[in-house]
Amino acid sequence: MSGNNEAIFRAILGAVDEGIHAVDAEGRTIFYNQPAAGMDGMTVEEVVGRHVLEVFPSLNDQTSTLMQVIRTGRPVIDKQQTFTNYRGRRITTVNSTIPILVGGRPVGAVEVAKDMTTVRRMADRIVALQAQISGRQAGDHSSPSRLYRLEDLVGLSQPMLALKRAVARASLTPSPVLISGETGTGKELVAQAMHSEGHRRAGPFIAQNCAALPETLLEGMMFGTARGAFTGAQHRPGLFELAHQGTLYLDELNSMPLGLQAKLLRAVEEGAVTRLGEARRRPVDVRLLASVSSEPGLSVAQGRLRQDLYYRLHVVSLRLPPLRERKEDIPRLTEHFLAKHGPALGGHDVTVTPEAVSCLLAYDWPGNVRELEHAIEGALNLLEGGKIAPEHLPLPVRTPRSPSPDERTGVPLRYALERLEETLITQALARHQGNVARAARELEIPRQTLQYRMKALKIAGPVLGR
Ligand SMILES: Nc1ncnc2c1ncn2[C@@H]1O[C@H](COP(=O)(O)OP(=O)(O)OP(=O)(O)O)[C@@H](O)[C@H]1O
Ligand SMILES: [Mg+2]
Repeated sequence: MSGNNEAIFRAILGAVDEGIHAVDAEGRTIFYNQPAAGMDGMTVEEVVGRHVLEVFPSLNDQTSTLMQVIRTGRPVIDKQQTFTNYRGRRITTVNSTIPILVGGRPVGAVEVAKDMTTVRRMADRIVALQAQISGRQAGDHSSPSRLYRLEDLVGLSQPMLALKRAVARASLTPSPVLISGETGTGKELVAQAMHSEGHRRAGPFIAQNCAALPETLLEGMMFGTARGAFTGAQHRPGLFELAHQGTLYLDELNSMPLGLQAKLLRAVEEGAVTRLGEARRRPVDVRLLASVSSEPGLSVAQGRLRQDLYYRLHVVSLRLPPLRERKEDIPRLTEHFLAKHGPALGGHDVTVTPEAVSCLLAYDWPGNVRELEHAIEGALNLLEGGKIAPEHLPLPVRTPRSPSPDERTGVPLRYALERLEETLITQALARHQGNVARAARELEIPRQTLQYRMKALKIAGPVLGR
């Protein structure tokens, strides 16, 4: 390697956050960066040029992954380690160690280490808190952290009514359920409602997000660990065991590493789990609910969701419609959030001006119900009088949407007109609480014409008052 190239590589390796430790075929350190030094509690100078086993005397030929990889020529990927470093700090890392091969022969090995100390501490904390909470839930039903019920699901549009019927029915069965829907559509709310309407309502409800956790950590959290599963591991039940006789909700299942998805499938099929580092199977009686934030079939096609797991889970499949597909729910949801947040924010009897209602109905809500809730909460904060006007709404909500490129070029006129007609009719209906006769009068068309157009454009009919 030329001097220049070497300088470039050293600069690159010096700039990454991961710890990097490279050794030659004998085990002598040829590269060691600052993050690695930080985790090990050493200085770079103390390590470079010296043999790994000399620097870390607690390791030996068998336990050092670098030495092991040099010997076997096979990589060790994503291995979790917890150790006390030279400064006395407890550190958790996830390491990958790969052989450096020249002409097929190992000439050294490099270890890349990610510091997971904070994540690990959080994971332990989550499991401990879940244990506390589920213990409390089991003993005390007046628990202040009340779970959502079916009646908390606001919305009378056709898709929402169908969803509520499906939730009510499915909550009484033991089958696993796959809940899909965009962000903010109410997946967690539905999961909680399934639990509180079902036979397991006296048992614990435990929710865990599967995204952004390395595989071994998530596995330990879900299935538990035995002492010695990895350095520093304690005997501890996982979330499956904590959810015994209750419900376990795994959020963002499509972000779970595929290897773990296989273990999850096995747990569901056998009704038993194995703690990490233990051989014994422990029976668990848990109802599994899982969510995916995109079309589940798409996650399967993208290889992010195992097909066999998908088949097992989608026995009961609930799809939460995005808010833009059920705009008739917007007025009722708005009222709901005014009632929910108004009192605390000093806003009693707040109303929404027709102009602001138009904005709420015209916007397409990529963040769905959560975004609407935040918009209302934000408006209540800005309010001076008792009326929410467009200027109290977030900028994107009150800005008329500029047409996207494919809308500008070659939209059939009929389609464009139908969308306009749909918007005007939905808005008129909202202004008159779904009263078709009054909306028709405002639009200056006969009531029968309006009803006919509503049918043609698939706009839901008058909704019943609460
Ligand atoms: N139908 C509904 N009625 C009342 N509130 C709702 C409804 N749907 C969603 N919400 C509210 O919107 C917020 C977001 O809901 P939730 O957390 O269940 O969404 P999610 O689908 O799990 O989103 P993410 O994918 O981002 O986790 C919550 O405050 C919830 O109470
Ligand atoms: Mg959620």
